[in-house]
Amino acid sequence: MSIKHKTLDLKKRMQDALQGGGPQAIEKQAKMGKMTARERIISLLDPNSFHEYDLFVEHAAKDFNMDKKQLPGDGVITGTGTISGYPVCIYAQDFTVAGGSLGLMHARKITKIMDLAMNLKVPIIGINDSGGARIQEGVNSLAGYGEIFYRNTQASGVIPQISVILGPCAGGAVYSPALTDFVFVVDKISKMFITGPEVIKSVLGEEISMEELGGAKVHSEITGNAHFFAESEAECFKQIKKLVTYIPWNNSKKAEPFPKKAPKFQEYKIDKIIPTDPRQPYDVRNVIKSISDDSEFFEVQELFAASMVVGFGRLNGQTIGFVANQPMVLAGVLDVDSSDKAARFIRFCNAFNIPLVTLVDLPGYLPGIDQEHAGVIRHGAKILYSYSEATVPKITVILRKAYGGGYIAMCSRHLRADFVFAWPTAEIAVMGPEGAANIIFRNEIKNSPKPEEVRKKKVAEYKKKFANPYVAAAHGYIDAVIEPGDTRKFVLHALDISASKEQIVPGKKHGIPPF
Ligand code: HXC
Repeated sequence: MSIKHKTLDLKKRMQDALQGGGPQAIEKQAKMGKMTARERIISLLDPNSFHEYDLFVEHAAKDFNMDKKQLPGDGVITGTGTISGYPVCIYAQDFTVAGGSLGLMHARKITKIMDLAMNLKVPIIGINDSGGARIQEGVNSLAGYGEIFYRNTQASGVIPQISVILGPCAGGAVYSPALTDFVFVVDKISKMFITGPEVIKSVLGEEISMEELGGAKVHSEITGNAHFFAESEAECFKQIKKLVTYIPWNNSKKAEPFPKKAPKFQEYKIDKIIPTDPRQPYDVRNVIKSISDDSEFFEVQELFAASMVVGFGRLNGQTIGFVANQPMVLAGVLDVDSSDKAARFIRFCNAFNIPLVTLVDLPGYLPGIDQEHAGVIRHGAKILYSYSEATVPKITVILRKAYGGGYIAMCSRHLRADFVFAWPTAEIAVMGPEGAANIIFRNEIKNSPKPEEVRKKKVAEYKKKFANPYVAAAHGYIDAVIEPGDTRKFVLHALDISASKEQIVPGKKHGIPPF
């Protein structure tokens, strides 16, 4: 055969493989409001940047008539490309081919591209749309999942791992996304669960739809398994493109710097954000926007555990991880979920050399039987652990309340914040004035002929003495009491001066965080 004929033969083979599961299956996919796997990759990556590998991989299964079935690409597309010029490795399961089910060769394609990502030290993106383990391939499918989970764990903290759920992701298959750093879901399209509605019905007699059991909203608002929620696949890809610009390619690098930009001072006037009445709520995201470059804040897990706000911004072009209590939701308390949310985010930032800026305004840990029984001790300890082990520059600003365990947990000096600043509105104490006065002056209040009057007087006394930043400043627990309008200036200087920070940690195999 001449080169020309061989090239034509190649083109014909490629054309056949690119058909995926064929026109009918593609039409069915479109009717569900879903793009095909290849369309997804092309939409996400920079134009013409996608290079596909292993297009001609074939399955080798024989049982259940599999030897008579051709599965183009074995139901998964893999390759490399760029997003805004940043290199990535990527795979997308092709639901049009045997429901994107995972057989031996399908798994090998995924593990091969994961290995490449680890060797090249670039992020890996996995688009999940699959009926799970390919039933006909039995234990080989399970082996395939195990190989993926192992690699997810090895890659954790080395390269960023991003999972996109764009269809079903059921059974053990959910554990690959669960082991990765960021999970993206799309309304009405993403479904994640260990056991589906039918199993639940037959075992427990309970009825529930797939959407109510493990739809995008459920995982964004209730379980916290998802980090980004989108209304459509197009919106989801925009979010991924944005995230990639905030994070480094691997753990030996810093995120790529952006041009420096001032905040939109006219829109976000820091002095006007915090109400004068210390009991009034406000949106802490506005404080972040009042100090971040261009007033940009890219929030992570926006819909989950909203008393805690975490996400990325930039200061003088450098990516920053912001962690802040949200006074608008439950006064910004720490609870089981908000502790988990913050702890995980802090660990991501620490692993990937992203400095942490913590904004504090909270009454403490949430009291209650529910919280105690849900393990607020174990979960609450995670945030202490994460801040204590973090060696990236850590800068804390106490805006208003910093009471009790909440004061310690929110990156206090004692957990080795490099810089702690407090606004004059800060109240650093064991607890709020009302609660404190009621306890320490209980007898005086009870035995007085005018208990309410005495109580008020004692609250005022306590407030004057402790509800301020100066007691902590007198002990050197905070470095400076600063005017709110100077926050960006102080944080920027602290970041600049910490640029060469290196912290020696005790030698160990690994710690044992309160998982
Ligand atoms: C083989 C599968 C498959 C699977 C789907 N298909 N799932 N083939 N193994 N797991 C095939 C179907 O036979 C069908 O092939 C095509 O994919 C499309 O599937 P449909 O059922 O027509 O699509 P839809 O109606 O949209 O339903 C999607 C679905 C359903 C809800 C995902 O297919 C389903 O329930 N699949 C089985 C899910 C499951 O139980 N998986 C195993 C989970 S256990 P044809 O040829 O007709 O087009 C697991 C363990 C992992 O994953 C453990 C890891 C540790």
